[in-house]
Amino acid sequence: MRGRIPDNILDDILGRVDIVELIGGYIPLKKAGRNFKANCPFHHEKTPSFMVSPDRQIYHCFGCGAGGNAFNFLMQHERLEFPEAVELLARKSGVKLPESQKQDPQVASLSAQLCKVNELAAYFYEQALDSALGSAANNYLLKRGVKKETLKIFKVGYAPDSWDALISHLRAKGIGLALMEKAGLIVPKDGGGYYDRFRSRIIFPIFDIKSRPIAFGGRILADSAKAQDLAKYVNSPETPVYIKGRNLYGLNFAKDSIRDADYAVVVEGYLDLIMPYQEGLNNIVASLGTALTIEQAQLLKRHTHNAVMVYDPDTAGEMATLRSLDIFIEEGMNVRVVSLPEGFDPDLFVRKHGIAAFKEKIAQAENLFDYKLRILKSRYNFKEVQGKAEIASGMLPTINKFKNAVLRAGYLKKLSEELHIPEDALLQELKKVKEDKVYPQASPVSSRSTMNISATEKMLIKLMLEEAELINRIKDILEPGDFQDERTARIISVMFDLIAQGKEVETSKLISHLADEELSQLLCESQFMEVPPENRDKIIDDCVRRLKADRIKLKKCELHEEIKTAQRLGDEPRLRSLMEEFDNLIRKR
Ligand code: CTP
Ligand code: MN
Repeated sequence: MRGRIPDNILDDILGRVDIVELIGGYIPLKKAGRNFKANCPFHHEKTPSFMVSPDRQIYHCFGCGAGGNAFNFLMQHERLEFPEAVELLARKSGVKLPESQKQDPQVASLSAQLCKVNELAAYFYEQALDSALGSAANNYLLKRGVKKETLKIFKVGYAPDSWDALISHLRAKGIGLALMEKAGLIVPKDGGGYYDRFRSRIIFPIFDIKSRPIAFGGRILADSAKAQDLAKYVNSPETPVYIKGRNLYGLNFAKDSIRDADYAVVVEGYLDLIMPYQEGLNNIVASLGTALTIEQAQLLKRHTHNAVMVYDPDTAGEMATLRSLDIFIEEGMNVRVVSLPEGFDPDLFVRKHGIAAFKEKIAQAENLFDYKLRILKSRYNFKEVQGKAEIASGMLPTINKFKNAVLRAGYLKKLSEELHIPEDALLQELKKVKEDKVYPQASPVSSRSTMNISATEKMLIKLMLEEAELINRIKDILEPGDFQDERTARIISVMFDLIAQGKEVETSKLISHLADEELSQLLCESQFMEVPPENRDKIIDDCVRRLKADRIKLKKCELHEEIKTAQRLGDEPRLRSLMEEFDNLIRKR
């Protein structure tokens, strides 16, 4: 995670340094209310938008988004690495750094512990795939065309056919059962005791952006005798480090290629990603499951504004594609669609026709308007008036989602030409299309901040940092997953960890605990928000209520869609588990 310098030493250094004095030594600061301001040293500007807060011991620039604590300032200004910045400030403040010190595992945060357990488990599964136990799994994968090097890249493994192989392995390494359960690796038995969640399955670790395993998907071996009554995939449950629908499989491997190509190919499944990747198409991510979520679109948007969707050409895939299109448009992304021939998914297509043919398909991808119109035309008779009305009412909500008026007008005209209906009539209908409420947003983004995070989430973070008591209160009523932005969720989760360890949570110290530039900037931005001092309790209650309601609404929508898909496919085991999840969700209220 972050270097080898213990947190208490970092905290000690920060406690002795005054950020106003430090930054004032580099650039002239002017008093502005409780804060100080200056022309930002990190971008060119004529009016000052660089703020320094003596109360919080942080800085933030409203112009370029730079921000952090004393360490970050030195790293940015002097172009130092983190340990160098620490060394410099340690010297300035007279704190002695330990020669070399390992972080005490006892104080490692829960997320760090979970990642560690997952790493051990991933390694165990990998070893098992390489051993005699994994020979059937190995043959199966090789038969599917996955090369040995590819298995290594994706750390594919095998969970042996045993109720406790992983439990025994991890116990021998000194891992407690409670932690294994928190990681979702084992399941409690009714009569007491535990068993391994993944048994007799090929294991695909799911990585976060820093390539840490945060969850697992286990695929049954096709020719397994029991395959009939078992789900094709078993997945990890949600854990403090894994929130479903917040992660894109493969993004850790693909992010550089996505930036270079300035587009991402979006597929559904593990092997739909692995196979093209193996053959040299590296700007590819998988949504794992049918419909893409808003959070996944937002995650992708940080790397590119262009997506090409290649979902299965079956009805479920078509439905998922249509829903995802709307999400991409709402996020202001450009999206095109590849339709593969019947019976092919990306994995099979690449195996049968090669990567060049797949790339060709991508180059010829249809724009979303043409795609949706074609699908609707195949479903309804567009020569009849009734059919035209159906098609129009399918297209109009999509057209309405375009924020750009020129695009809206252009597509309206095109639709009018395609259906031979006067534009006026379509325009009248368009006005009736209400703001579609199918995909709830975290909350309207009021001020267009650099990071695009809901004001509710930032506000709560700010308030929690002003008053430690509030962190405890919030900890009892919200969980990190209630925050819809993955970044705010991570900040919250670290705050909860620190409080649980009986540590004080202070903005500037929290920044070094987070050890992440983007998170630090976000945190600093939130600290300079204006919150009216009166009615604090009411503001807090409102924020909490809104977060909870949005989370449940979003989850219900997503589950609902997944249930519909499972029903359509007659996937009984998946349907059963989804229904159970739905019940639990409703009971939570
Ligand atoms: N999935 C799941 N649980 C299921 C079925 C599917 O989690 N019971 C997810 C998996 O991430 C899977 C993706 O949805 O990769 C796409 O499902 P599907 O197309 O059925 O599987 P494939 O990825 O094509 O798997 P394979 O090629 O091995 O059959
Ligand atoms: Mn497949």
